[in-house]
Amino acid sequence: MVKKSVLFVCLGNICRSPTAHAVFQSMVDKAGLSDEIYVDGAGTGDWHLGHAPDRRSAAAAALRGYDMSALRSRLVTVEDFSKFDYIIAMDADNLRNLRNMCPPDGKAELELLLDYSRKPEYDAVSEVPDPYYGGEDGFPHVLDLIEDASVALLDNIKAEMSAASDAQA
Ligand code: 4NP
Repeated sequence: MVKKSVLFVCLGNICRSPTAHAVFQSMVDKAGLSDEIYVDGAGTGDWHLGHAPDRRSAAAAALRGYDMSALRSRLVTVEDFSKFDYIIAMDADNLRNLRNMCPPDGKAELELLLDYSRKPEYDAVSEVPDPYYGGEDGFPHVLDLIEDASVALLDNIKAEMSAASDAQA
């Protein structure tokens, strides 16, 4: 099977992208694809480098069975654009920053996570809102949006992997 890699990116890499990392990793593990799909997270801002995820994000994720305890904040690097197949931004500002950083030989597909939303109620929602300065209910909402879109993102990657495997056969 052709291997793929996915990097989730937000601003601080302590709320949204580690949540997406943990949710997507869990889906990959449950699908038995841990050896085929590599998952990571990074931020475009450097305020929290090396820090564990925000305790509110970690607590909301734990309530749904996701473990974020091993994750630590890091910055997006220029190497990420050649290392990863998909770099998935949580909002339009992150995506703009990624496009500006991307070197000419970058191979990663740069996308917005919520372009993969499935539920009609999220049709008008294009960005995962930053929960950092908001109330406690922002954290389960972030999880709702990420869980919904991650299902379709994984389906899309699985389809690309099997198409690439077929092409190799
Ligand atoms: P995130 O949230 O981008 O989802 O990790 C934020 C965390 C911290 C800050 C901004 C956003 N901050 O400004 O420190």
